[in-house]
Amino acid sequence: MNANLKKIHVADVRLGMYVHEVCGSWMDHPFWKKTFKVSNANMLKTLQDCGIQEVWIDVSKGLDVGADAEAFSEEDEKLKVDETLLSAVKTVKKSERTVELHQELGRARMIHARAKKEVTSMFQEARMGKALQLEQAESLVEEISQSIMRNQCALLSLARLKNKDDYTYLHSVAVCALMIALGRQLGMEGDALRQAGMAGLLHDIGKIMTPEEVLNKPGSLTREEFDIMKQHPRSGWEILKIAPGVSEISLDVCLHHHERLDGKGYPEKLSGESISLFARMGAVCDVYDAITSTRCYKSGWDPAEAIRKMAEWKDGNYDESVFHAFVKTVGIYPIGTLVSLASGRLGVVADQSADSLLTPKVVVFYSGRQREHLYPEMMDLSKSLDEIAGIEKPSDWKFDPEMLQGLVQLGV
Ligand SMILES: [Fe+2]
Ligand SMILES: [Fe+2]
Repeated sequence: MNANLKKIHVADVRLGMYVHEVCGSWMDHPFWKKTFKVSNANMLKTLQDCGIQEVWIDVSKGLDVGADAEAFSEEDEKLKVDETLLSAVKTVKKSERTVELHQELGRARMIHARAKKEVTSMFQEARMGKALQLEQAESLVEEISQSIMRNQCALLSLARLKNKDDYTYLHSVAVCALMIALGRQLGMEGDALRQAGMAGLLHDIGKIMTPEEVLNKPGSLTREEFDIMKQHPRSGWEILKIAPGVSEISLDVCLHHHERLDGKGYPEKLSGESISLFARMGAVCDVYDAITSTRCYKSGWDPAEAIRKMAEWKDGNYDESVFHAFVKTVGIYPIGTLVSLASGRLGVVADQSADSLLTPKVVVFYSGRQREHLYPEMMDLSKSLDEIAGIEKPSDWKFDPEMLQGLVQLGV
């Protein structure tokens, strides 16, 4: 823990403070640099007006907060996040799986490849001004939905694999899969699940209207560029509105997936009850996938870290019951998380079920003590004396994220 870090409200930020981290998804604010000094009044105003509620400051690198302002330590926040996550997974709706992960992975890989191709051509046709044809997308959503029903871990683990160029397309596929899995956890069935999936697939279609240099700018956006970025929900809604057969749910999620319960989202600054359940689900799935994906301006967080960040920001950001259901869906240790075990070995979470969110299956592949690779071996922690000791950052161990993904895909 770093004792120099304090979490404070944006209203208490002053010139000369050093921001260690902005508490919010980087889609919700223009500060894409992780750390920066608040060096001018314009910057301070942007920070205080952009809808973010809190920031972490580093008092060893800049001014401290006044004695009368509220400030939290890393320790305080860690305890709060632990409490939120553990209470979220206390009662989990069992999502039956009809096949084992290794049986579904091959099929899921084919569905994922087909999804990438179809979403890419759907977006490209829309970019050329052609009206959307949803028949293919409907059969794709159906296939994704069937795969999630058989074993949701397969597609959800693949959905993290993206590179810079295909981000927007694969993000759409990932949000589609997450919406279906989350809807299922919330008790939805049949058509409601397909609607949730289709809404996820189409939610960011408005990004085809966002200029490439804004969409993929490596540095912080200017206020004007951020305003352009914020137009994508409405642009998408306009594209979908004239396409035949687009449901009200898809239109709603497209327009409102960046709204926030506290009224600080965009484009309509809706708040509370005026944001539908589907739009609330869209907001959570969208942020999770965005922050776990590596972009040209930012490397993605590991899944477990992302869930912890979202738990830390959740006040005013997301619907609490939807967020809890989401934690139950992806787990506290989502697939792909690097964990250290009590035995000193390291492994990557490869499979989990409703009964085992705290004791998932892990591919053990490294000895932390000897600092050497081990022959990969699948270990079911629900049947083992070994247990998770903590979450590890792959970069701290110089592990290539693709190597970790490869271990998950191995399904050893
Ligand atoms: Fe979006
Ligand atoms: Fe999105």
